Amino acid sequence: MARRSVVLLAIAAAVHAQSNITAQVVERCPHFANDSAVACVNNYASVLPCPFVRATASNGVDPENDTFVATSVASDDSFHRLAETTFVVFDLERGLDILGSAPRLERVFETRNDSIHEGPVYVPGLNAIIFSQPHQGVYQQKIINLNGTEPTISNFTTDPPIYAVNGGRLYKGKIYWASEASFSFPSPENGSTIDQTPGIYELNPYTREVRTLLNNYFGQQLNSPNDLVIDSRGDIYFSDSWYGYAINVTDYPVLKPQTYRFRPSTGAVSVVEGSLEQPNGLGISPDGKTMYISDTGITDFDGAPEEKLPRYTFNKFGGRTVYAFDVNFAPPGNYLTNKRPIWYAQTFAVDGMHVSREGYVLGASGDGIDVLSEWGELILRIEVGGEINNFQFAGPDRQELWLFGPGGIWRVSGLKGIHGMVDE
Ligand SMILES: *[C@@H]1O[C@H](CO)[C@@H](O)[C@H](O)[C@H]1NC(C)=O
Ligand SMILES: *[C@@H]1O[C@H](CO)[C@@H](O)[C@H](O)[C@H]1NC(C)=O
Ligand SMILES: *[C@@H]1O[C@H](CO)[C@@H](O)[C@H](O)[C@H]1NC(C)=O
Ligand SMILES: *[C@@H]1O[C@H](CO)[C@@H](O)[C@H](O)[C@H]1NC(C)=O
Ligand SMILES: *[C@@H]1O[C@H](CO)[C@@H](O)[C@H](O)[C@H]1NC(C)=O
Ligand SMILES: *[C@@H]1O[C@H](CO)[C@@H](O)[C@H](O)[C@H]1NC(C)=O
Ligand SMILES: *[C@@H]1O[C@H](CO)[C@@H](O)[C@H](O)[C@H]1NC(C)=O
Ligand SMILES: *[C@@H]1O[C@H](CO)[C@@H](O)[C@H](O)[C@H]1NC(C)=O
Repeated sequence: MARRSVVLLAIAAAVHAQSNITAQVVERCPHFANDSAVACVNNYASVLPCPFVRATASNGVDPENDTFVATSVASDDSFHRLAETTFVVFDLERGLDILGSAPRLERVFETRNDSIHEGPVYVPGLNAIIFSQPHQGVYQQKIINLNGTEPTISNFTTDPPIYAVNGGRLYKGKIYWASEASFSFPSPENGSTIDQTPGIYELNPYTREVRTLLNNYFGQQLNSPNDLVIDSRGDIYFSDSWYGYAINVTDYPVLKPQTYRFRPSTGAVSVVEGSLEQPNGLGISPDGKTMYISDTGITDFDGAPEEKLPRYTFNKFGGRTVYAFDVNFAPPGNYLTNKRPIWYAQTFAVDGMHVSREGYVLGASGDGIDVLSEWGELILRIEVGGEINNFQFAGPDRQELWLFGPGGIWRVSGLKGIHGMVDE
């Protein structure tokens, strides 16, 4: 919390009646001349001058302006500036430490706007980011080469090719993929038919060879593994939600959406969390003691028409919470207890998640990234101006943030107090 704002508000409250708070909701941040780059929100905007109105979802559709920054606050001439601001700071001290003196967001690549972009993994040995485009008819991934003065992008085809990767993590030099597709597809190399099932795959990013690690649950096809994270014992935790069906790369699901632990050394798969509506992004704290899982139950599959993709509507009362869990040691693999909600997304729900070396919990939600403390306090938000599905720390000391969504790939550079973890 910004100490200075508390003082300002306290004075305002003492001088005026509570209904007439004169401190501006949004202020220029110290040391920042340009408030379309960085702006500071006082007191989490806990009191907005009336009347204020924020758009809301109806008939299963969430309008684009259902966001905090697009809230209309007619009688406050500071608030509307947020609509133009990239870095919206809620916690002055930690927020400005993370941002440094010259944070910068730039759109680096245009991408197709009819598809999400997912599973970005930075491979230091290649100085490159490998990411995917889970979309029907797209049978390979892409690679961003960061070696040159300008980054370049090209197709990345594995052996065998893998269809509809949605989650990726680096662990000891290899990439682990959660993949959603069960429909067979033509090899992009020679057109021969390739059979695949939703599962967990291991990629050697240097040779491009892929190994199947898991492709069923006791004979039952997995729904569509969406995202994964790997603990220090090498065990893989993955969310098995329904989005492969949503984008029509697999059949209607047969399993409850759940989160599993998969132990590659024995092949054992065990459920570790079964209460979320649609488990999605995962993260582990740097000390390994806390796991974070987001719920995107706002995507409602009930009664969504089969012919229209994606096959869900928006249920504003569905899950949009990030939960934290204690990670407990057990001989066959760690288990989770003490589920607690730490964050109810201010916009949409949290998709891809990553935890920084400092323990900050970052989540892609709607048109931006929430940066939270380990306790779920909102420190700052990066407003990108386009939907973001996932992101990754990359570059020297993993201090750049690369953001991926339909239509674009963005880079945030100049950050100071935040870094990606080594195995991420
Ligand atoms: C709020 O207080 C200011 C300063 O005293 C005054 O000018 C303004 O008219 C007040 N507004 C309302 C809505 O009471
Ligand atoms: C202020 O920041 C915005 C958004 O980052 C940028 O487009 C603009 O060029 C900046 N203006 C100045 C004067 O630096
Ligand atoms: C949101 O956008 C819609 C359509 O452009 C508009 O009618 C509505 O007034 C907006 N709502 C707010 C709170 O700005
Ligand atoms: C998406 O891309 C297509 C083809 O490039 C273009 O015609 C269309 O206007 C774009 N749609 C949006 C919403 O940007
Ligand atoms: C980037 O350069 C390094 C060092 O020359 C090289 O090993 C690596 O393969 C290059 N990355 C790509 C994607 O070509
Ligand atoms: C890259 O892959 C896309 C399909 O995903 C294909 O249309 C395109 O031709 C490929 N580009 C190259 C240079 O092979
Ligand atoms: C076609 O390409 C796939 C990999 O994309 C490979 O596994 C297969 O052996 C190839 N088949 C022929 C006949 O070359
Ligand atoms: C879903 O995929 C199947 C098999 O590829 C195809 O026949 C069907 O037209 C697709 N449906 C939609 C809505 O895209």
